[in-house]
This record gives sequence, C-alpha cells and structure tokens, in this order.
Amino acid sequence: MNFFDLVAPIYDRIFHPALGELCQQGGFADEGVILDIGGGTGRMAQALHTLQRKVIIADLSFPMLRQAKEMETLLPIVADGMALPFCKDAISGVLIADAYHHFQQREHVIQDVARVMKKGGILYIFEPNIRKWTVKLIALMENLLGMHSHFFRIPEIENMVCSQGFQTLETKEEGASIRLCFQKD
Ligand SMILES: C[S@@+](CC[C@H](N)C(=O)[O-])C[C@H]1O[C@@H](n2cnc3c(N)ncnc32)[C@H](O)[C@@H]1O
Repeated sequence: MNFFDLVAPIYDRIFHPALGELCQQGGFADEGVILDIGGGTGRMAQALHTLQRKVIIADLSFPMLRQAKEMETLLPIVADGMALPFCKDAISGVLIADAYHHFQQREHVIQDVARVMKKGGILYIFEPNIRKWTVKLIALMENLLGMHSHFFRIPEIENMVCSQGFQTLETKEEGASIRLCFQKD
C-alpha cells in the first residue's frame, strides 16, 4: 500500500477541490475527451466535465479513484501514465496536476501523452514551485516518507515536454505553484 492509498479517504478534506485558473493561452476543447493523469480523487477533474466533454481520470491508486467514482460524471480508470490504454489520437486534452513530480519515468509518460493526443491538443501541467521554501520543505518531507518524488523548475519541464513533440503556449509562476500549457505539434 502506498502513501496515496492510505490518505485517499481524507485527501479531499486536506486538499480542497480547486482547479484554479488555467493559463491564458490555449484551453481545452469544448468537446471530446480530457484525460487527467494522476488525477487521484478527481479534485481537479470535476471542474472540467461538461455535457459535451468527458473527463477520464487515470491513476495508479485504486483507493484514490474510489473517491472519484463517487462523482458520477467522472470516469476513473486504474492505469499507469506511461502505458495509457487508449489508441493514437483518441484524446483532445491532458491535465497533469500535482502528479508530474510523482511519476518515476516522466519522459515515458509524456511520450505516451504525445501518442494518444490529437494534433493541436492541449497539455496542462500544474506543479508545486520548488523555488519556494515551503515547497522545498514538502519535497524534503516526501523524500523522508520514501515517496521518490522529484520536483522540477519550469525550464526543465519545458525542455522535456517540447522534446516529445509539443510547443509551449504559456508558462506561469504563481506563488507556490507553476503552470505550463503546451500544444501538440
Ligand atoms: C498528489 S496526487 C494528485 C492528485 C490530483 N491530480 C490532485 O491534484 O488532487 C498524485 C497522484 O498521482 C498518482 N500517480 C503517481 N504515479 C502515477 C503514474 N505513473 N500513473 C498514474 N498515476 C500516478 C498517485 O497515485 C496520486 O493519486
């Protein structure tokens, strides 16, 4: 059992539902399928669902997804971000919120995102801002807990994602968070 399996029942009480504002550039398509990778309890995904737009949450933790299942509009699946169970060009947008630093093979996750995403699709990555001391403390705590997380700065994420066939639309540093928006070439 990993950390997220343990905290799943109380996760949404600690981290309140909040998608916040997206970047000003780009934006998810009004129709199609949005995939929230490492989407956990659906905390962020719930704000993205509309009648025309379906949101699938792909996560490794069944207990986290069980919480998402309670929100009937969301479609939770147990899946690893680096082996997404979708065919080429099936997805119109991807959200990775507070999960990139938990991926052990992030390059493979982004490669698979590039495979399943339609040309012109939007990828948002939200991460804690490791330039802030509060986030440095969280990083230390996560390492002490043996979570093997690794936090990156904007240029490091940008270089990696762009090497997989995306172009940057916008990057933004906002206090303890960073937000990046990419479009698939
Ligand atoms: C901090 S939680 C973030 C959950 C959600 N995105 C949010 O903002 O509330 C990180 C999630 O990433 C998931 N995760 C970690 N590695 C993963 C992988 N390789 N594929 C899919 N999910 C993964 C964990 O199980 C956990 O639910």
